[in-house]
Amino acid sequence: MITYTDHKDFAPAALLPLFEQAPWAHGRTVIETAEMLRQTDLFITAWDDNRVIGCGRVLTDYVYRASIWDVIVDAAYQGQDVGTEIMHRILNHPALHRVELFWLCTRDKHAFYENLGFSAKEQTGMVWDRRQRPASSRDE
Ligand SMILES: CC(C)(COP(=O)(O)OP(=O)(O)OC[C@H]1O[C@@H](n2cnc3c(N)ncnc32)[C@H](O)[C@@H]1OP(=O)(O)O)[C@@H](O)C(=O)NCCC(=O)NCCS
Repeated sequence: MITYTDHKDFAPAALLPLFEQAPWAHGRTVIETAEMLRQTDLFITAWDDNRVIGCGRVLTDYVYRASIWDVIVDAAYQGQDVGTEIMHRILNHPALHRVELFWLCTRDKHAFYENLGFSAKEQTGMVWDRRQRPASSRDE
């Protein structure tokens, strides 16, 4: 049976196999993942027994804005509503009930998010990527 939790008291290394399946999260380390987990406002994980098979996380001010990141379902469990359940648990989480606007980026999963009520009408995002900067600005 698949279970879901918003508790963060698990070993951060449990997330790494999932991260390896997502192009943007590939190569993340245990140390940085532990820090990320600690600093993330809401982290939902889906579990099959003692294995993490899905996740999604939120950074927020709890009032006006929340951004959703790292929504990933293990390939062996995709198409079984795990991603939808993670998203519902984010959008309906009691701690976020006041949040006015949830924001996320996606390259190719528009249909998945449109099913959940997201709209791509306002294409206003821009990004500053430290990894694309000269080495000098990375060290600052
Ligand atoms: C996108 C992702 C999280 C969806 O999770 P999932 O558990 O497979 O999705 P669900 O089973 O809850 O699917 C819900 C609906 O979305 C649709 N859907 C799922 N993945 C989709 C995809 N890749 N493209 C289009 N629609 C998709 C399903 O067909 C389903 O629609 P239906 O209810 O009308 O049949 C999962 O495919 C994944 O982890 N992909 C790799 C990582 C990724 O790209 N994450 C998104 C980052 S923005």
